[in-house]
Amino acid sequence: MHSLLHSLSPPFCNSFHCMGEVDRLFLFLGRSVILIIILYFILVGAKSGLMIYVYIGAAILIFLLGLLFFMWKEAHLNEIKEKTLSFRRYPKGKPLTFFFISDIHRRTIDRSILQQLKGKVDFIIIGGDLGEQGVPLQRIDYNLGLLGETAPVFFVWGNNDYELPEDKLRQLFKKHKILPLRNESYPLIPDSEPPVYLMGVDDFSKGKSDKASAFARVPSEAFKIFVSHNPFFAKKLTKGDGVSLFLSGHTHGGQIRLFNRGLYQKGGWEKQGGMMVLVSNGYGTTAVPLRLGARAETHLITIHSEE
Ligand SMILES: [Fe+2]
Repeated sequence: MHSLLHSLSPPFCNSFHCMGEVDRLFLFLGRSVILIIILYFILVGAKSGLMIYVYIGAAILIFLLGLLFFMWKEAHLNEIKEKTLSFRRYPKGKPLTFFFISDIHRRTIDRSILQQLKGKVDFIIIGGDLGEQGVPLQRIDYNLGLLGETAPVFFVWGNNDYELPEDKLRQLFKKHKILPLRNESYPLIPDSEPPVYLMGVDDFSKGKSDKASAFARVPSEAFKIFVSHNPFFAKKLTKGDGVSLFLSGHTHGGQIRLFNRGLYQKGGWEKQGGMMVLVSNGYGTTAVPLRLGARAETHLITIHSEE
C-alpha cells in the first residue's frame, strides 16, 4: 500500500501564515485586551482612591483572560490518543495500525504529529470536515501534503466539506494521492481470511449517504471498518451488516462544554452491540477557535486478532 505514496515538499506555511482570519482576530483581540488592562492599571492606579474596585475589576479581567487562553490552548492541542482493540473476527497475523483525524476545519496540522506517526501507520483516515467555507485551498493543500507523505490517505466527506469547491478539492486529492470513499469500499487486506475492508459513506446531512453502495463490493464474511463523518449513521447499521469498527467525528464533543454540558455529547469510545464506535472530538473547531471540556484530539488505532 505504501507504494501508492509519493514524496512531497509542502509549500511554505508556518503557524502564523496558515492561521485563519478568525484565529488572527482572536490574537488581535487578546493582545488588545492585555494592552487595555495595562493602561487601566496605570491610569486608575495613578489616581488611586477606589482601589478595591480596581482589584475586583482586574481579578475578573485576569480570570477571563486566563479562561480564554486556556480555551485557546485546548483547541490547539496536538494530542494523539492511542487505542488498541482486539477482535475475534480479525484475521490472525499482522495487526493493523492507522491514524484517524477528523474535523480539521481551519487548523493547520502540526508537523510534530506526523513525525510521531512515520513508519508506524499502515494508512490514515480523514473522517470529514477537512475544511470549511473560507479556508484557503493552500492550507488544505499543505495539510493533505503532510498526511500524504506519511502514509496512504483515505477521505470521507463531512458536511462542511460541501462548502468547498468540489472540483478544486478533487484536484488536491489527485495531487496527493488521497482516496475519497463516497459510498465506496477499499480492500485493505484482500487476501487474508477473512479479508479486511474499509468502507466510507457520504455525509449523512449534506450528502447522499448510501449504505447499500458502500457494502456492494464487500464480501459478507469480511472484517469491516466503517467510516461516517456523522456518528448518527451508526444507527443505520444492523448486527447483520457485521461491522466491527465504526469511526466518526462531526460533533466536536460539544466543543465548548459548561458544567459538562454541551450541544453534543463528549466524544469517546463505546460498544454498540458487537461494534466498537468512536466519536472523535476532532482536531479543529468551528465558529470560534476555542474549546472547553472537549480537547482537540487525533487517534492512533491498532487492531489485532483476539487470540
Ligand atoms: Fe466538524
